[in-house]
This record gives sequence, C-alpha cells and structure tokens, in this order.
Amino acid sequence: MSASTTTEVIHITDVAPRDGLQNQQVRTDTAFKLKLIQMLAEAGVGSVEIGAFVSPKAVPQMADTAEVVKSINDLLPDVRTSVLVPNLKGLELARNAGAREIAVVLSATETMNRKNINMSLQQALEASVATLQAASAGGMRTRAYVAVAFDCPFEGETPTDTVVALARQMKEAGAQEVVIADTIGSASPGMVKERLKALAQAVPLAELAVHFHDTRGMGAANAWAALEAGVRRFDASVGGIGGCPFAPGAAGNLATEDLVLMAERSGFRTGIQLDKLLSAIDVAEAALQRPLGGRSIAWLRRQRERTPA
Ligand code: COA
Ligand code: ZN
Repeated sequence: MSASTTTEVIHITDVAPRDGLQNQQVRTDTAFKLKLIQMLAEAGVGSVEIGAFVSPKAVPQMADTAEVVKSINDLLPDVRTSVLVPNLKGLELARNAGAREIAVVLSATETMNRKNINMSLQQALEASVATLQAASAGGMRTRAYVAVAFDCPFEGETPTDTVVALARQMKEAGAQEVVIADTIGSASPGMVKERLKALAQAVPLAELAVHFHDTRGMGAANAWAALEAGVRRFDASVGGIGGCPFAPGAAGNLATEDLVLMAERSGFRTGIQLDKLLSAIDVAEAALQRPLGGRSIAWLRRQRERTPA
C-alpha cells in the first residue's frame, strides 16, 4: 500500500523544550517552559522532551530541569516526558527529580563528542552504555540519540558503517528507541533512505526514530523519506525552535506543525491538533521575542483567520 492511502499512526516527540530552548539568546523562565509543555500536551503531543541534566555551565538554559520534571509530573502525570542525560551523574539527577524516561546522546564522530560532552567517542560510547543499562535496571524508559549521523560540522560526512555500529550498540545496551539525528540539518532524502535501509539491519524499524533539523529546507522531505522507509517515530520542535549550541550552523528542528501537516495530509494520523499548536507558537513567540514557525506557518495562520474557533 502506498504511503498516501494509509491511516497509520505516527509518533511525534516534541523536543522544543530541550533542543529548542537550549540554544535561545533570550532566557526563558521555568513558568514559560511549564506553559509550553502543557500547551503541547493539550495539542495532543504524546511525548515531549522537557529538559536536560547537563552541566549548567555548559547549557545554562537547562539549569531548571529538576524543577520542570517535578512540576510536570504533578501537572501532566499521563504524558510521556523525557530528559537528556549525557552521563551517570545526569541519570542520578534525573532519577532524583522523578524522571521516567531518559535519552543519552552519543555523537558518531570523535570531534563532536569532544565539543559537546568533553569525551572521546570511546568514552561517550561507554558513558552511554553505562547510563542506558543503569536506567533500564531502574525501570526507566530509554532513548539513545546517535548525533551527527549524516554529517559532522567538524569532520564532514559520517561513515554509514559507524552510524550503524553505534546504533546497534545502543540497542544492545537496552535503548528502547534509537534516534538517528541530523544534528546540523544537512541530510537529503536520498541519504536518509540509504542510511535507514542500512540501519534497519541493526535496529528494528519500530524502534528507530529520526530527528531532523531544517537548516537547508529539507526537513520535511527527509521526514517523508523516513516515512517511506518505514519509520514511524519522529522528533520535531513546535515552531521549529532549536539548534545545537555546540554544532556551528545548525538551524532549528523540523517544525512539528510542518510534520503534522505533511503527515495528516498524506493519510497518517498524529493525534495532534494544528490550531492548538499555533496557540503554543503564539506563546513561544511572545516569550522568545522573535518570529517562530516552520515553512507552513503563514498558511496555517491564514487558515486559522478564515475559520475562527
Ligand atoms: N549534570 C549536571 N552537572 C554535571 C553533569 C550532569 N550530567 N555531569 C557532570 N556535571 C558537573 C560535575 O559535577 C562538575 O561540577 P563542578 O564543576 O561543580 O565540580 C562539572 O559538571 C564538570 O564535571 P566533569 O565530569 O569534569 O565534566 P566536564 O566538564 O567534562 O563536562 C559534561 C561534561 C557532559 C557534564 C558537559 O560537557 C555537558 O554538560 N555537556 C552538555 C552538552 C549538551 O547539553 N549539549 C546539547 C545537547 S546534545
Ligand atoms: Zn537536534
């Protein structure tokens, strides 16, 4: 059956509160984060990455993650929420705060690991494996990012074999979802198709997720290539907020609204209401003091004006 005639469900993790906010010039307060997460949940987003337990010196924007986790557990006990943790120290902090799901972050090149988490590739691999094993043993859900899985801003194209080998090791260490991340937004659909074919030999398609940035306007095309390859789990960021502070040139993530629009118009179900996502973008624009939104934002807003609630 072709993708255009299916009614299959796709699962979206909105990463705006973490990947989005870690890179903003304007510092936002905890109240705004809680509001954004609540609005995403109200829009029907089933999974949200709500923060990171990382060094506050490295990423000051994530310093309030413990408070965010505790509050969200009270406010939204039924929503799936995760936090990024780079090491066992981060896991301990996550557990103390009451986090139920963690994501480790392993970059596929030597230099990117050093820039991002001050570890060699081998050290990062060991830290990721140890963190995944400890998290699983403690009954937490787990995701593992394989970052710079297409190109590295420092080392150029990442070898497919390396990405596949790391993804396999993440799966073997207990990762329930392996997230293939185009950290700098340089992938193209042909590359996505080819890499996912190789990756599917190492990790079942149902356990693979993709994470695209829209630096070159190919985020939606790449997501389509992933859909056609059989992937049903996607990261995206409401309003396209995002970028990695340690990866020069990385723009925001594929916008959740672009992904939802494309998927729903093509016969997939996301469970997400676009009008409510627009409300979340309005709130985020006010807080971040700049225009936000993916490629479809102007059209979506015009539609909203024509069909007022
Ligand atoms: N959360 C919070 N603090 C942490 C931590 C964590 N996960 N891991 C280590 N620390 C603290 C240490 O306790 C130490 O604190 P101190 O200076 O008060 O004694 C300090 O950070 C340095 O610890 P060290 O083990 O020497 O780490 P480092 O300086 O080599 O930094 C990381 C390693 C991973 C903590 C740091 O590079 C980091 O947080 N990177 C985050 C990258 C990120 O979020 N990137 C974007 C998302 S992909
Ligand atoms: Zn990212």
